[in-house]
Amino acid sequence: MKVAVIGQGYVGLPLAKAASSAGHEVIGFDNDPNVINRLMVNEKNTINYRPTLLQSDINLCNIYIIAVPTPLTFSNKPDLSYLKSAAELIGTVAGEGALIINESTSYPGTLREIVEVTISNSNKSKLLYASAPERIDPANTKWDIKNTPRVVAGLNSEATKAALDFYRSFCDEVYAVSSPEVAEASKLFENTFRQVNIALANEFAQIAEKFGISANEIISASATKPFGFMKFTPGLGVGGHCIPIDPVYLEEKAQLLGAPTTFIKQATIINQQMPHYVLSRLKKITGDHLDGKKVCIVGLSYKKDVTDIRQSPSIELWKELEKQGCQVSFHDKLVESYNGTESVKLSENSFDLAVVAVRHSDLNIDELKKCARFLFDCTGTIEGILTL
Ligand SMILES: NC(=O)c1ccc[n+]([C@@H]2O[C@H](COP(=O)([O-])OP(=O)(O)OC[C@H]3O[C@@H](n4cnc5c(N)ncnc54)[C@H](O)[C@@H]3O)[C@@H](O)[C@H]2O)c1
Repeated sequence: MKVAVIGQGYVGLPLAKAASSAGHEVIGFDNDPNVINRLMVNEKNTINYRPTLLQSDINLCNIYIIAVPTPLTFSNKPDLSYLKSAAELIGTVAGEGALIINESTSYPGTLREIVEVTISNSNKSKLLYASAPERIDPANTKWDIKNTPRVVAGLNSEATKAALDFYRSFCDEVYAVSSPEVAEASKLFENTFRQVNIALANEFAQIAEKFGISANEIISASATKPFGFMKFTPGLGVGGHCIPIDPVYLEEKAQLLGAPTTFIKQATIINQQMPHYVLSRLKKITGDHLDGKKVCIVGLSYKKDVTDIRQSPSIELWKELEKQGCQVSFHDKLVESYNGTESVKLSENSFDLAVVAVRHSDLNIDELKKCARFLFDCTGTIEGILTL
C-alpha cells in the first residue's frame, strides 16, 4: 500500500516506521519544515519511508492517516483546527477508493462529523473512513505499536475490513468495534480512567498528610491485595498531550448532550492543583521561608525518560515557586534547556531545596541527596527522602 501519514510527531513517526517496516511505501507528511529537515537526516536509512513537506508527494495514496495534535484552546475547549486542516488537505489529494484513518484523539463523532464532512466538501470521490485511536506510551519499553492491541472501526463494513487488514500488517492484535464512535470513546475512557485514578491518589495524599502517615506507604500496602485493586500513586500532577486533555474532550461533548461530568471535572481540578499542594508541603519543610531560597526542580518533562514538556506540572511548580520569591533552576539531562535556562548540575550544597518532580533513569541519587539542605520527592520512589 502507498500510505501517507499526516503529522510526523510522537504518534505519526512511530506509526510511519511501523507501517514501512511491514513493507508499505510510507510518506511522512508534516507542515513544519524543522520536523521534515530533522527526519531527512535522522531517517535517511529507514527503508520504504520518505518524509516530505510537499502536498504533491501524497497525491493518490491508498491510505491516509491523520496524526495531528488535538489540543485545547486558550479557553480550555477542544481545538480541532489541526484536524480540520489535515482533512482539508486530504480532500485535495485523495483519489477514489482511498481509506482515510483518524488516529488523533478526539470525542465520539469526530470521524463522522468533522473528518468525513470536511473531506466530502472538497472531494467527490468514493472514500472509506475509519477510526483507530493511537495508544502509544512514550518511553514504555514493554508496550509498543506492535504488541499493544489496536481498536478499529470503519464508517461501513468495507472501511472496517480495509482498516483491519492494514493494522494487521504490523499489529499483533486488532480489535474491531461496532462504530467509530465506540473506538473514539474507548480512547477517551482509557485516559479519563487514568486521570480519575491519579486524582484519587493525589487527594488521598492530602488525606494521609493530615493523618501524619505516608500515602505511598499505604498504597503500596493496599497493592499487595492480589485482586480488585490497581495501583496508582500520587505525584506533582499530570502532563503531556493526553491525560490533561482527553478527559476535557469527553466532558465537553458529554455536557452538550446533557450527561453528568462531575467526576471527570473534579479529577481534572484535583490534578491541576497538585503543584499548589506540593508548594504547601515545601513551605512546611522550610519553615515557611521560601523567599530568596535557591530551589532546584529535578525532572522538568511531564514523565520519566521523555523529553516532552507539554503541560508538564513541573512548569506550574516553577511558577508557584517564583511567586514565593525563590530562585528557581532545574536539573533534567533530557530536557537540557527551557525558556533560555539550561539544566544545572546537582553539585554538593548548591541549593537550599531540591524537589524531585520526575525521576529519570539517569538521576544520580547520591548527588541528589548531597545537593540541598531540604529535599522533597514527589515520585515516592527515593528512600530516605520526604515524600507525598
Ligand atoms: N503523544 C502521545 O503520547 C499520544 C498518545 C496517544 C495519542 N496521541 C494523540 O495523537 C495526536 C498527535 O499527537 P502527537 O503527540 O503526535 O503530536 P505532535 O505535536 O508530536 O505531532 C503532530 C505533528 O503534526 C504536525 N501537523 C500539525 N498540523 C498539520 C497539518 N495540517 N498537516 C501536516 N502536519 C501537521 C505538527 O507539525 C507535528 O509535527 C493527538 O491527537 C494526541 O492526542 C498522542
